Amino acid sequence: MKQMLNIALPKGRLGEKVYDMFEKAGFECPSIKENNRKLIFENEEAGVRYFWVKPSDVAIYVERGAADIGVAGKDILLEYEPEVYELMDLGFGKCRMAVAAKKDFRDDPNRTLCVATKFSRIAQNYYSSIGRDIDIIHLNGSIEIAPILGLSDVIVDIVETGTTLKENNLEVIETIVPISARLIANKTSFKFKNSQITKIMRELQKND
Ligand code: PRP
Repeated sequence: MKQMLNIALPKGRLGEKVYDMFEKAGFECPSIKENNRKLIFENEEAGVRYFWVKPSDVAIYVERGAADIGVAGKDILLEYEPEVYELMDLGFGKCRMAVAAKKDFRDDPNRTLCVATKFSRIAQNYYSSIGRDIDIIHLNGSIEIAPILGLSDVIVDIVETGTTLKENNLEVIETIVPISARLIANKTSFKFKNSQITKIMRELQKND
């Protein structure tokens, strides 16, 4: 019997694009396009099983081997530092991790800076690297509100088009790191399902 390759796809914004990429590479699973609430889809003939998970959970599934490969943003990889192989920069889902603040914000370097973010480790690493003391307020979403309500001085968050910042009268002060989608693999799977995984990589490279 053919060994199935388990692939974690990020639900949401990037999801369809990611699936289309695998489909183009020859790993199709047409039932995934049927509009329903199912989360797992497989095509035994092609040897693939896809499942939709929250984008921030893809790395956990892959790290623990519930998925052999998956697609995760570089932001998630930097934040959680999962034990996985980062195989390819897929060149889409491009955005940046940035520090933003209210337009009239003036930093006082003698004060501890209060930073609201969903990406505590990225924020901490960044400010450590420039030798700045900070207090982190960990939030789970709508980060842009924090400086407006005086909950924090600045935010560390993802900026794609910049529209969210603009519409909330915030601006980028500093770019921390560029972000894009990455193909990741479980370390054991990479060894034992190497031919399937390298085949996918080869096909994806062709379609670049
Ligand atoms: C991200 C980020 C910003 C927004 C930036 O949130 O947190 O709010 O996108 O995009 P823009 O620069 O194009 O306006 P996302 O939509 O991923 O949802 P989240 O708040 O649940 O993280």
